[in-house]
Amino acid sequence: MDISITKADTLKDRPSDTGLGFGTHFTDHMFMMDYNPEKGWHKPCIVPYGPFSMSPATMVLHYGQAIFEGLKAYRTSTGDVQLFRPRDNFNRMNKSAEMLCIPEIDTEFVMKALLTLVDMERDWVPSEPGTSLYIRPTIIATDPYIGLRASHTYRFFIIMSPVGAYYPEGFNPVKIWVTRDYVRAVRGGVGRAKTAGNYAASLYATEIAHKDGYTQVMWLDGVELKYVEEVGSMNIFFVLGDEIVTPQLNGSILSGVTRDSVITMARSWGMKVTERRVAIDELFEAHAKGQLKEVFGSGTAAVISPVGNIKFHEKVIDIGDGTVGPIASRLFKELMDIQYGKAEDKQGWIVPVNPT
Ligand code: COI
Repeated sequence: MDISITKADTLKDRPSDTGLGFGTHFTDHMFMMDYNPEKGWHKPCIVPYGPFSMSPATMVLHYGQAIFEGLKAYRTSTGDVQLFRPRDNFNRMNKSAEMLCIPEIDTEFVMKALLTLVDMERDWVPSEPGTSLYIRPTIIATDPYIGLRASHTYRFFIIMSPVGAYYPEGFNPVKIWVTRDYVRAVRGGVGRAKTAGNYAASLYATEIAHKDGYTQVMWLDGVELKYVEEVGSMNIFFVLGDEIVTPQLNGSILSGVTRDSVITMARSWGMKVTERRVAIDELFEAHAKGQLKEVFGSGTAAVISPVGNIKFHEKVIDIGDGTVGPIASRLFKELMDIQYGKAEDKQGWIVPVNPT
């Protein structure tokens, strides 16, 4: 399939690379294509960034049949632009698609679309340290129909946004609240899919956390309310003694690309990394014994995000001495060095965006 390209008549003023924040500016163009059962995915095009016109009955608006991804393009010190593990995101998107009854995409075709779009928008990739171009591929259900069933038609689109740090804290430790009153996902549900509803389900408890001065909610499993699953926008890791432990992928946890990168990097240093069930009580007991050395989250938006304290039932534990721990610091540096082209890409994670 050829991708038709319509260029914007006027280009936007790009924001300054400093003080970018997250997710408020969008580039000049976006990619989109549509699906129907007769033609499959068709009409791929790059068009000026702008609103969609849709019926108020459009299914995604009613039943949340939507999936998305988050990945980034980075500018290297030589001015080149590169992507980090983009195929992993599109492969995960197909896994989410299956769970949400959405037709799968051809990952190599959407890679071509992404490379064309990022190349066109390469001037939008910021160059200040810690900044990048956040990429949001999304699929939504587009049938104008309000009965409940899977849609027959869909739209895939990619929009892009120059970003700085996701959390206002930057790389400083964030505060996490653990609750047994609310859950994000349950066994047999869609927790492992990157679907809009999982994020909608997290909002109410997150508001409560914010009111109490906490940045994110750490979710427990939806059955026993005992085992840690993930944190608002990231996967979570604990350094217990000399070992790194992270909740195992159990069907209700998102299989993070950054999570997998953290596991791979730490193991390559010779560290023991274990994926297993982690009870919240075990963490508080380990803390009491002085064994909970570090806690940090991982995610595309959050990168590596140290956790400074955890509150569970009125009890608050402080992690370490309030500064960023050595393992989180090393992971952050090594990951960023690979993403920004400062370190050798031993794993083959980088895909360059070559200028046409
Ligand atoms: C990402 O890290 O890319 C995400 O999709 C999380 C989102 C809440 C910003």
